[in-house]
Amino acid sequence: MVLSMSKNTQNIDPGDDDLMQADFGYRKVALGEKAGLVRDVFNSVAGRYDLMNDLMSAGVHRLWKAELVRQLNPRPGETIIDVGGGTGDIAFRILGAGGDKVVISDINDEMLSAGRDRALDRGHVSGVEWISGDAEQLPFADGFADVYVTAFCLRNVSRLNVALIEAARVLRPGGRFFCLEFSHIAIPALGALYDSYSFNVLPLLGRMVAGDEDAYRYLAESIRRFPDQDEFAALIDSAGLHGGGYRNLSAGIAAIHWARRI
Ligand SMILES: C[S@@+](CC[C@H](N)C(=O)[O-])C[C@H]1O[C@@H](n2cnc3c(N)ncnc32)[C@H](O)[C@@H]1O
Repeated sequence: MVLSMSKNTQNIDPGDDDLMQADFGYRKVALGEKAGLVRDVFNSVAGRYDLMNDLMSAGVHRLWKAELVRQLNPRPGETIIDVGGGTGDIAFRILGAGGDKVVISDINDEMLSAGRDRALDRGHVSGVEWISGDAEQLPFADGFADVYVTAFCLRNVSRLNVALIEAARVLRPGGRFFCLEFSHIAIPALGALYDSYSFNVLPLLGRMVAGDEDAYRYLAESIRRFPDQDEFAALIDSAGLHGGGYRNLSAGIAAIHWARRI
């Protein structure tokens, strides 16, 4: 039986990989195929990833990330894992805000390699570790982390519910969860403008700057496929991360969700 996954990829049996489908942007692909396709996307854009972020958001992603780290309020001695940490943007900010141990886990070696180069350029020789690892099967023991943070990664995982359950597993009781992710516009009047920008300007920028139009079309599509703010908050809660909430950024273009492992 081939099951088509719902919009937010939550209604699946983690044991049925070969039979299930996942959304890759607007395409349906076999569940086991999605991670490879996502890896290809980030392999292709790794070298231009940071420049593209600045261009497509006019630098606003920096304000969102600053707000995430302000809210996270890292403390010395905490073990913080940055899942899908890519080229290290969040980790570097955490180190700059008082954190002293960040472990980045990402499925993409090109992104990790670009991040290691950036770390050297910035003089971050200690305090950050780079590990190859999938958000759905993290290479950490139960209760390893004081804080789990992720930015713009969970939209890309094959099984969102599995990744959230994994987040709860690797957090110690009382540990804190934070997610910055694209979300759904909270001001309907802006929707048409945002759609036009997403589906016309982003792919064009992707072609001109990163040499990959499809990667940025996938970005626009994957945002639309991701659960909205309330649906995502409910998924986080049902994964065992409680007492949370969310805050919209830039009228809901992005949102920060937070919760705690009880
Ligand atoms: C849009 S980038 C975000 C990078 C960084 N967090 C930032 O905010 O700049 C998404 C990252 O998630 C990673 N990623 C995608 N799927 C993943 C998965 N299943 N497990 C771990 N990392 C994943 C990608 O390789 C990529 O580095």
